[in-house]
Amino acid sequence: MSRPDWGTAADLVVVGSGVAGLTAALTGQRAGLRVVVVTKDTPDAGSTRWAQGGIAVVLGDVPGDSVATHLADTVAAGGGLVDPLAARTILAAGPAAVAALRGEGAVFDGHPDRLARTREGGHTALRVVHAGGDATGAEVERALLAASRREELTVLAGHAASSVLTGPDGAVEGLEVRDDEGRAGVLAAPAVLLATGGVGGLYETTTNPEVATADGWALALRAGAALADVEFVQFHPTALYTGAALRGRAPLVTEALRGEGAVLRDTSGGSVTAGVHPLGDLAPRDVVAAAITRRIGALGAEHVWLDATGIPDVAARFPTVAASCAAIGVDLARDPVPVRPAAHYSCGGVVTDDRGRTGVPGLWAAGEVARTGLHGANRLASNSLLEGLVMGRRAAEDVAATLAGPRRLADPADPEPRPAHVAARALLQAAMTRGAAIGRDAAGLAAASDAVEAASTERVATTRAEVEDAALTLAAHALLAAAGSRTESRGCHVRTDHPRTDDHWQRASSTVVLSGDRLHVGTTDARHGGVA
Ligand code: SIN
Repeated sequence: MSRPDWGTAADLVVVGSGVAGLTAALTGQRAGLRVVVVTKDTPDAGSTRWAQGGIAVVLGDVPGDSVATHLADTVAAGGGLVDPLAARTILAAGPAAVAALRGEGAVFDGHPDRLARTREGGHTALRVVHAGGDATGAEVERALLAASRREELTVLAGHAASSVLTGPDGAVEGLEVRDDEGRAGVLAAPAVLLATGGVGGLYETTTNPEVATADGWALALRAGAALADVEFVQFHPTALYTGAALRGRAPLVTEALRGEGAVLRDTSGGSVTAGVHPLGDLAPRDVVAAAITRRIGALGAEHVWLDATGIPDVAARFPTVAASCAAIGVDLARDPVPVRPAAHYSCGGVVTDDRGRTGVPGLWAAGEVARTGLHGANRLASNSLLEGLVMGRRAAEDVAATLAGPRRLADPADPEPRPAHVAARALLQAAMTRGAAIGRDAAGLAAASDAVEAASTERVATTRAEVEDAALTLAAHALLAAAGSRTESRGCHVRTDHPRTDDHWQRASSTVVLSGDRLHVGTTDARHGGVA
């Protein structure tokens, strides 16, 4: 990997170096594009490396499973808001995407001709491939970074993307970045692909690493693109509970443990999910996370227990979880594990079509930052690495096809410094955790919005922390506005003042756009949620 000179003109600037970003960058470079990857930390600092369970994919060797069944599970988990056409194309592209990743050198568990499979919540078949037991994301990131080095991909690490630059016609002309000292630079390019990952930094406790600060939502909104379904933040049911004072990244305790027989019990020893859903502890994630939250509330407890002691060789099969448990004095093979839900995955995001195009000419998005219609109101476990692989490749192929046509010269003017609302992060996270986690109501959402506003000052964001805080502030307001407008409970959006699912909202995706300084919330048909 090498570093570009300032002012370098690229064909494609990729923001983010996780599964979607690196897949896109490698695809684009191999298609002959001059690609620069911008990443605000080290290239391996994103969420991909922390993914445990695996990649959900139908490889054709599990009797009874099919893409149609995978699609049915995805649609069922997604609470009426999955776009089945978009979802089908993504799921059907899974085998080729996994084969390509293996071609980059990724090694999965099992025999090369017959990979091992596990199950996770909401899946009716064994279809999740995994690596290193519970270190799938680490293997995916390792393989893609090794390929990036082999291909001498140009990576600008330690630079935060502060603004997508657009011309008078609204089309992308480049990207403004800030280095660690807050100095601005411009990368001129006719195509920018956002692959910035998630939004866990909106909350006090999350399974995400600290780089997950909603940067892509803010970059897209300010460039004129729409967000959709952003009220649906998935809380993982089983983050390791390491003490009441925990702030920041909570170690994940993979759902694959339940797929292989671990059971949830409350602190009085009762089942958490009995009578809640026919799939019990392996119900879709929104159902299990909400059940745990209710049980914790009813018992005044801090956590529930996950008992994995019945799984043979559990520490060898799940070495990452075993190590996290050992760090707090818990032996995965002998002790129940204290767990509680934590913010995990954004089901919505920047609206794209099935080629990753946003509504802004020259702006693409892929991976967790994007809303393709695959996840609806609640993502099916392990569909996300698959989506990153498929959509990263597709978006880059589309950039290459687009740039092969008549091209405009990307020659961005130096951007004017624009002040933004920047909230103090700890206050914002406290407000979002209180008002916009599992179990929301109108008063709590309004109070969170007021608290974020009160914690904000208006200034030009220059340092990485300020750029992140400005992104979190805009993202918080977008999420709160969408969550306030959806007066029902559906998927990951649980309203205590509107506990029922309302047919009026069946298939209605919320949308958020920024006009001037104001966010506007609307709705669109989830089946046609692609670029308007
Ligand atoms: C897990 O391993 O439980 C997380 C997988 C995912 O979020 O898809």
